[in-house]
Amino acid sequence: MIEETEYKKRRDKLGCSLSKNSVGVIFAGDYKTRSNDTEYPFRQNSNFYYLSGFIEDNACLMIVKKKKKIKTILLVEKKDKVKELWTGKRLGEKESKKRFLVDEVLTYDKLNDVLDEHMKDKSTLYYDFKLEPSKVKILKKYTKDLRASKNIAKLIEAQRLIKSSSEIALIKKAISITKDAHHDAMKQSSKLKYEYELQAEIEYVFKKNAAFSDAYTSIVACGNSANTLHYISNDKRLVNGELVLIDAGCEYQYYASDITRTIPVLGKFSKAQKELYEMVLSVGLAIIEMIKPEAKRSDIQKKSEELLCQGMIDLGILKGSLKKLLKKQKHKKYYPHGIGHWMGIDVHDESPYKDKKGKEIPLKSGMIMTIEPGIYIDKKDKKVPKKYRGIGIRIEDDILVTFNGYENLSKDIAKTIEEIEQISS
Ligand code: GLY
Ligand code: MN
Ligand code: MN
Repeated sequence: MIEETEYKKRRDKLGCSLSKNSVGVIFAGDYKTRSNDTEYPFRQNSNFYYLSGFIEDNACLMIVKKKKKIKTILLVEKKDKVKELWTGKRLGEKESKKRFLVDEVLTYDKLNDVLDEHMKDKSTLYYDFKLEPSKVKILKKYTKDLRASKNIAKLIEAQRLIKSSSEIALIKKAISITKDAHHDAMKQSSKLKYEYELQAEIEYVFKKNAAFSDAYTSIVACGNSANTLHYISNDKRLVNGELVLIDAGCEYQYYASDITRTIPVLGKFSKAQKELYEMVLSVGLAIIEMIKPEAKRSDIQKKSEELLCQGMIDLGILKGSLKKLLKKQKHKKYYPHGIGHWMGIDVHDESPYKDKKGKEIPLKSGMIMTIEPGIYIDKKDKKVPKKYRGIGIRIEDDILVTFNGYENLSKDIAKTIEEIEQISS
């Protein structure tokens, strides 16, 4: 759980980074239409959530900075008995005043008046440059006479880079539910016929443990399907003797987990599958060892490419010298993605990788990044020994940077061949 005082601290910190005589506006998310008059389940805008912990739509947070003085205003939807009968209770102005540690709570229908009042003598407006057009329209009136408009999302996302202990606790909880789901999949795979059945098992575990959503659409890809990186149709048969790549992680109280395991459908790796798997696993282990404060993601990426390329040479997948193959980027055909990404409220946290001057941001204690080496060999790739064709393997863990190194937050999820075969049997 995240205390109200922590949300307040986040708002104060953001307020400090705004320029003098400015207004910062952060809108809540919107319901998105699924079809006709049905909507997807509501998911709060990540930056708004980070600053408020408030999970309703039709809301807006305003940070008004007059000279150096900061005032925070939260606008929430008005109580409306008829509307609430259909769509559920709203917190409303009165309750919001009690709960949130903001200076003022008003109703959302006052948005234009509040903006008129506070934008009067201000020189800068901060808002999210990726805002929906309907919201941009609201702000247009103010942006034209201003000295500057600035992207508030960039400031918030930079703040989100370092996780607090309460955020880390929620991510650990998400990973622990995801662990149960992956272990369940390992136990069930030999008994099921279709990828979607395995997906259902996994997502059942998520929901049963109060993780009401996945953090991203689950990938359950058997055999050659694993070579489509964002395979989400999950509609093919689980074929005996093949591997199934499962990239699935739940979201728990707005915090993500992002875990991939690649397991044999029948619970036993073949010799060729073992060779490839051991190679990817050893690269993952070596890369995780590099994680510590001041390490650079670009060095980690480079090393992962070197190690995977060497592994491909050793297995006869690539031929030639390591140096030449790397120079010609030959390994990219089989390892086309990055080694990992920031993770937090979003599975791919939009936090920056570079500072304002374009210099790479080194790792720091409190950051969380995924490490996810993989190898993908299409079944029609005649250049590769036949035994490896049609196999895709990725192994993904979520790693916390600590003061003296790292903590693998997903270390309890079976990963070695022995561990996976044992759980599956
Ligand atoms: N599940 C998405 C990713 O691994 O980045
Ligand atoms: Mn990932
Ligand atoms: Mn993933």
